[in-house]
Amino acid sequence: MMNQYISKMEGSASMRSMQMAAELKRKGVPVIDLAGGEPDFDTPLKIRERAKQALDAGHTHYAVGRGIYPLREAISKQLQEKNGIYVGPDQIIVTPGGKFGIYLALTSILNPGDEVLVFAPYWVSYVPIIKACGGVPVIVPLTDKNDYKIERKIVEDKITDRTKMLIINYPNNPTGRILHQEEAEILRDIILEYNLYAVADEIYDEIVFDGKRNISLASFPEIKDAVVTVNGFSKCAAMTGWRIGYTAASQEITDVMYRLFEHSITGVSTFIQEAALEVFECETELEEMRKTYEERRNYMVTEINKIPGLSCKCPEGAFYLWIKVDTDLTSEQVCEKFLEEGNLVCVPSDSYGETKAVYVRCSFANDMKILRKAVEKFANVILK
Ligand SMILES: Cc1ncc(COP(=O)(O)O)c(C=O)c1O
Repeated sequence: MMNQYISKMEGSASMRSMQMAAELKRKGVPVIDLAGGEPDFDTPLKIRERAKQALDAGHTHYAVGRGIYPLREAISKQLQEKNGIYVGPDQIIVTPGGKFGIYLALTSILNPGDEVLVFAPYWVSYVPIIKACGGVPVIVPLTDKNDYKIERKIVEDKITDRTKMLIINYPNNPTGRILHQEEAEILRDIILEYNLYAVADEIYDEIVFDGKRNISLASFPEIKDAVVTVNGFSKCAAMTGWRIGYTAASQEITDVMYRLFEHSITGVSTFIQEAALEVFECETELEEMRKTYEERRNYMVTEINKIPGLSCKCPEGAFYLWIKVDTDLTSEQVCEKFLEEGNLVCVPSDSYGETKAVYVRCSFANDMKILRKAVEKFANVILK
């Protein structure tokens, strides 16, 4: 028998939608792809140039250790200055994307049967990764009615003597919520009281709007050693295809994670790590992208809320609209209708563990021409 956890793993809904959009495009269907979880921008020129220089300079050998030191040093400095997370370079591992960082953290901490609290709606990969690590996902449902706020009671209701950790994602994919002070304090208190670990997936933390600020869970000194922060360059620097991210954690957790890392990944390609150093010199470019997302968000939120049957809240961060659909159909059927009648590719809400109402997730990381067309198409789909 094959591995009991991996062989039963379900596929990624957003990847499936992206693949479907690519396949339709290949066949010449003029699809409007709002399914993707990636920036439409090219990686900033300075970063690409730096990669080319690094290749020519011979950075093509094995990457040894946790990541090149200057990169870990730059990450450590940024985490301290921007996020209030006090970790040194040795507490950082440069990973092939944020996703692998999440896997590395979960598989290094969990033992079979350990329960992990996952807040729904959740990013599509948490549940499969937890299961692959032999853990048991326990869903904590947050509700739109309550603006997806974390409340102490709903978390405590799910805690058992098997609860080992919780995983949070802010700015959130799919809702666009950021973590607010009051909620962060609730999580801090629960982590302390029940002696839990946490993974804080902050992959969108540079994409926050209206001058707000996302709170990093690991910035609380009382729990900093219990939290693995996962972040990376995929979203903020439009580097999804480069596959580079990182974990920041206590020395103890980092050393355990590194044991698996060196026997599985060895290291992220050195020229990619060299190029990532340039991200820290690209503040203007990153801010330009962030501002553009904010403008697109403003347009989309206004327009979607004008369409009968569709509504959405204003996301505080990331680049998704979580559109509520007033319908008797399932979210899969709604997505099928959007595709058939409007050539729109969206991701259905049941893939995010949303069971109470029907939503679709749409990315506004698309240029305005495409977004204007999308709004037109949304308005013409008959949902009843
Ligand atoms: C919430 C969340 N975490 C992690 C990732 C993965 O990031 P990376 O591409 O760096 O692996 C994504 C990508 O879609 C995401 O949405």
